[in-house]
Amino acid sequence: MKKIIVGITGASGSTLAENLIKKLLSLGHHVELVLTENGLSVLEYELEEKFEDLIEEFKEISDEITHYSNNDMFSNIASGSYKVDAVIIIPCSMGTLGKIANGISDNLLLRSVDVAVKEKTPLILIARETPLSGIHLENMLKISRLGGVIMPPVPSYYNKPKSLKESDDIFVGRILNFLNIKNSHHRTWGTENER
Ligand SMILES: Cc1cc2nc3c(=O)[nH]c(=O)nc-3n(C[C@H](O)[C@H](O)[C@H](O)COP(=O)(O)O)c2cc1C
Repeated sequence: MKKIIVGITGASGSTLAENLIKKLLSLGHHVELVLTENGLSVLEYELEEKFEDLIEEFKEISDEITHYSNNDMFSNIASGSYKVDAVIIIPCSMGTLGKIANGISDNLLLRSVDVAVKEKTPLILIARETPLSGIHLENMLKISRLGGVIMPPVPSYYNKPKSLKESDDIFVGRILNFLNIKNSHHRTWGTENER
């Protein structure tokens, strides 16, 4: 079982966060969940669902989910002594990305990323904005040079997804594959794929 910190910020793309968390739980992994204030508002707006109801849906899949308040600096994920397998921010706003690039860690999510960078824990940012400004690109380059992976939610057009859900499934499958988590959604080009 992998232990994954999943951060949700106020960028668009809440269906991806929901999709990833459901897959991680279904596959038997543990999710440490943190939302920013804007992450919560955008999620409820885009999913047209109250966060409390969504958490219940997650818990119906598995109890292996811990939700932290973004102000709770006393929680275990604020410390490098607590080992996790990866930190993923999905979706990651340009605001949070800019703070990460500049070492600002004034909330729990940012602190857990700061810890991941110093402890060399895999860090994946599903950075969502378009078009990208020079500031966004410079911040991304800085994080990439520190070992973070910038993974924008780019649709896999060549797999010809028939719906947003299918497109999300393929993208989330790719994130899981990146984490070495075998799953039925990842499609390896040039093979009869693993589905
Ligand atoms: C509906 C909605 C969609 C948004 N989409 C994006 C986005 O795709 N990318 C982005 O960087 N910011 C987006 N924003 C703006 C962020 O929510 C805002 O910059 C916020 O301060 C980010 O804070 P956080 O990183 O602490 O969540 C969006 C805001 C709203 C209300």
